[in-house]
Amino acid sequence: MPDPYAPARSAIASAEDVSRRAHANTLLSPKFYSTDYAAMDRLDVGAVRAEWDTMMKEYEGDNNIDHFQRTPEFAAEALRLPDALRQEFLDFLISSITSEFSGCVLYNEIRKNVENPDIKQLMTYMTRDESRHAGFINQSLKDFGLGVDLGGLKRTKAYTYFKPKYIFYATYLSEKIGYARYITIFRQLEQHPDKRFHPIFKWFERWCNDEFRHGESFALIMRANPKLLTGLNVWWIRFFQLAVYATMYVRDHTRPQLHQAMGLDPETYDYTVFRITSEISKQVFPITPDIDHPAFRRGLERLFEISTAMSAAKARGGLLGGLRRAGLAVAGVATFARLYLLPVQRHDLPAQIRMAPAW
Ligand SMILES: [Fe+2]
Ligand SMILES: [Fe+2]
Repeated sequence: MPDPYAPARSAIASAEDVSRRAHANTLLSPKFYSTDYAAMDRLDVGAVRAEWDTMMKEYEGDNNIDHFQRTPEFAAEALRLPDALRQEFLDFLISSITSEFSGCVLYNEIRKNVENPDIKQLMTYMTRDESRHAGFINQSLKDFGLGVDLGGLKRTKAYTYFKPKYIFYATYLSEKIGYARYITIFRQLEQHPDKRFHPIFKWFERWCNDEFRHGESFALIMRANPKLLTGLNVWWIRFFQLAVYATMYVRDHTRPQLHQAMGLDPETYDYTVFRITSEISKQVFPITPDIDHPAFRRGLERLFEISTAMSAAKARGGLLGGLRRAGLAVAGVATFARLYLLPVQRHDLPAQIRMAPAW
């Protein structure tokens, strides 16, 4: 979706700039969520008990306990980045830390507010992982002299209330797309180590296995409660799939330097990530967007054009800029609606739910 309220693109040069970006509450920026904890408490995963217990053993094994330790090369590489690339890389780090920390805050709030032993244990493990991820990115931001005050962010960022089912759809997708993004970058830089402009990318392989497992947890919760995956809810699934894909597409296309530096074309990269995410999400969702439909591709391109025009109108300001933005907002909604109504692909759900991170 285009973003009528996005701050005009400006340089990230101070702790205040970082804080403003992390606090931004726009269509494209990562959000913080609250939910119905009593409903979370009532969840029953009995129908998937065997797969659930295997997953819990994996969490308990904690195979990434020693992974998130930085090395001296982090600080050295940070100094070498050319300015334009540094800006996009910082933007990438800030949106990544905000979404990692968003998971951390949400999972921790659920953990504190439920008695249900299955859910409480799951949330404890996922909070542990996300707090490691956010802390690790924050150390990298500090190499640029720019950390995020995570405690302050938790207190002052706006929270969006989502019913549990929307949390499941959105969080499942963001965990799985997070896996797909990190593994695609990792594989590219494994093949082209000369394009690895910062050491943090070497951490992505084991890191994204955490995200993959977080996604598995939500897949099991939804499969244990099949009403979430049928009837009118399928229209909600469709909405979240499109919203997550479209947001990623627009965001990535606003960072050309970052992708170029890694030798990735944003278009090819995004469709690779969509393909992986859609393939994985067949474990739980009965539909996936038809990403090869020419109208789907055109629609996403159009959303990016609208978003770019929106930033320009915002920068121009004044009455004309305001009118232009209102027109663009209507065009954005219409484009999104057309995408939403395109044909989708349908699948039967597999008997065995869990998948291995095999990409
Ligand atoms: Fe994470
Ligand atoms: Fe995660």
